[in-house]
Amino acid sequence: MERTYIMIKPDGVQRGLVGEIIKRFEQKGYKLVAMKLWSPPREFMEKHYADLSSKGFFAGLINYMTSGPVVSMVWEGANVVLEGRKMLGATKPTDSAMGTIRGDFCIEVGRNICHGSDSVESANAEIALWFPDGVSEWDSCESAWIYE
Ligand code: GTP
Ligand code: MG
Repeated sequence: MERTYIMIKPDGVQRGLVGEIIKRFEQKGYKLVAMKLWSPPREFMEKHYADLSSKGFFAGLINYMTSGPVVSMVWEGANVVLEGRKMLGATKPTDSAMGTIRGDFCIEVGRNICHGSDSVESANAEIALWFPDGVSEWDSCESAWIYE
């Protein structure tokens, strides 16, 4: 089954949105297979966002992302990479549809409360980076009611 890396950014943690974001993924039917709250060092966050290192906003992004703890999670389910991005909403909150996490809870792109992997390939790389010891394999009693 497909997996994606979802992260609640420091503003999402500070604003008390951890439960709300987890609730949406649970209620959709996805399965949580890894989770931790921690404050990774700057070099680690630079590695996570390495593809954006040439952008003018990169230093600000790393300052923001290391300004407090983040909640790192791996969610599992059919098409969870693409569907999870839909649940987060567009990168810029002004483009995010209402009903999405960013559309409902934030205003500026530089404080957009959550991250989601943008492809299966980057999900696999991000999961390996953030959870080098692997994830928890478990059977959900709901799966027969979620998948036909
Ligand atoms: P992530 O899920 O966080 O990776 O966002 P994304 O995939 O929707 O967008 P992208 O990877 O292009 O950008 C990563 C993050 O950098 C965004 O979520 C924003 O927090 C930040 N970012 C992107 N574009 C801008 C920008 O123009 N200005 C500022 N200040 N931040 C930006
Ligand atoms: Mg991205």
